[in-house]
Amino acid sequence: MPADLSPIDKAKFVAARRAVALVEDGMKLGLGTGSTAAWMVRCLAERVREEGLRVTGVPTSSRTADLARQLGIRITSLDDAKWLDLTIDGADEFDANLNLIKGGGGALLQEKIVATASDQMVVITDAAKEVVALGAFPLPIEVIPFGWQTTRTLVEETLGSLDVLGREVTLRMNGERAFVTDEGNYILDLHLGRIGNPRQLSLIVNQIPGVVENGLFIDICDIVVVGHGDGRVDVRDINAGTVSHDRVEFAETENVFRDLGD
Ligand code: 5RP
Repeated sequence: MPADLSPIDKAKFVAARRAVALVEDGMKLGLGTGSTAAWMVRCLAERVREEGLRVTGVPTSSRTADLARQLGIRITSLDDAKWLDLTIDGADEFDANLNLIKGGGGALLQEKIVATASDQMVVITDAAKEVVALGAFPLPIEVIPFGWQTTRTLVEETLGSLDVLGREVTLRMNGERAFVTDEGNYILDLHLGRIGNPRQLSLIVNQIPGVVENGLFIDICDIVVVGHGDGRVDVRDINAGTVSHDRVEFAETENVFRDLGD
């Protein structure tokens, strides 16, 4: 592994490499979005190249689709694939029940649809994203642009009756303009501090007109692979109730580092 990778990038890489070891020939895969998922796409492409692994990927964003295409991974739409064997994606936070906050990269809608349409969801992450209670990371919700300020007011009013510490709601920006998702929608970031009841909040927020989806992934993730900068990985399986420990070995010359720059 190149010495100039930060410890966080090393942790993301080893988590990605370990998760990609779960992929079997012929699988239909959900391909997540973000910097950790980009490592996963690189590791997957390496297996496709070097082992002749035959897989079909359903990307969760235009960014991931571009990277997968560039690296020679066959991709298709979810409608064509219909159902997936495995989705591998990153997360912004996870708790002891493997519930997640996602959407830091703005792709939560496709990510949730794809993960839900999979037999198994594996999350790849570094240890810093583990929390006792979800909510320190601002919860993204995707809203349609029409009437978004009214939607924001309704969200703020709704938060008043929920078990959260903070109630500030901000529109995600991309420079001077509102950030626009692949679906043409806006993202509101909810600065909650701590979410007392994530399941309740998820259900209630999704009832508000104008809200398309929120970034809470409740009972969707099956396995979290936590990478560490020294090559150790912890694999937590919520269904089996197990935690196993492993180590990913790497060499500086690996092909997977040749296309760095994402
Ligand atoms: C994108 C996501 C990402 O998985 C999440 O933001 C983690 O990103 P990264 O791996 O870059 O830290 O939910 O919408």
